[in-house]
Amino acid sequence: MIFETHAHYEDSRFSEDRDIVLKSLAEKGVGTVVNVGSSIETSEKCLELADTYDFVYAAIGVHPSDIECLNEENLVWLKQQASHRKVVAIGEIGLDYYWDKEEKVQQAQRDWFWRQLELAYEVNLPVIIHSRDAAEDTMEILKRFHQQHPDVISPGVVHCYSYSPEMAREFIKMGYYIGVGGVVTFKNAKKLVKTVEAIPLERILVETDCPYMAPDPHRGERNVSYYLPYVVEKIASIKGISPKEVETQTELNAKRMYRL
Ligand code: NI
Repeated sequence: MIFETHAHYEDSRFSEDRDIVLKSLAEKGVGTVVNVGSSIETSEKCLELADTYDFVYAAIGVHPSDIECLNEENLVWLKQQASHRKVVAIGEIGLDYYWDKEEKVQQAQRDWFWRQLELAYEVNLPVIIHSRDAAEDTMEILKRFHQQHPDVISPGVVHCYSYSPEMAREFIKMGYYIGVGGVVTFKNAKKLVKTVEAIPLERILVETDCPYMAPDPHRGERNVSYYLPYVVEKIASIKGISPKEVETQTELNAKRMYRL
């Protein structure tokens, strides 16, 4: 079955029908969901969802655009929650220079990214990295991090991947998976299509980032995990293999990365 590696079902756009949507996923071919936190508040909600639904797991962490909610106390809370039986990753964490252009804010993003990488290391969990318009700094920080911690073999995923194929190879060399979502189905997705072509299927995870990033032909609508077959089919056509092969391999990849 399809493994949804990145969803935000705590989002208010699911307030009306969250339970119905989640309960319908299995019959629509989606077997497992990792619900990803982006703030302290949403991380708490991820834990609640993981407690409620067998097939839902949680990632907890603070997104670069939400770092105002982080402090030493919250970091301790995150570390404590990391031992919850259904927490499978620290994320999403990273850098987003698209929304934040100010150097002071970008420095704070780098600091908290580093602190959360260290946290993931301490609790021995993979990370889910969000990186937008910040390719060089992300690469630089991760290189420095892995030099300091050469024992990390499977560090995590670069989610909603948007950089070059060359850079994807660099991330893969460091042990990362590449998260591919709805964007790959867009007509103007040339760079991501090239990346999918260039990297082995064994390093690809499928994700929605729902409610965002709905694939064609649902672009602009609320995204849901049962639109993932569009992503799977597109990857299959790029690779010249069957959707079933993509589904099976990416599920295996996700289980490996999240250690399930
Ligand atoms: Ni996300």
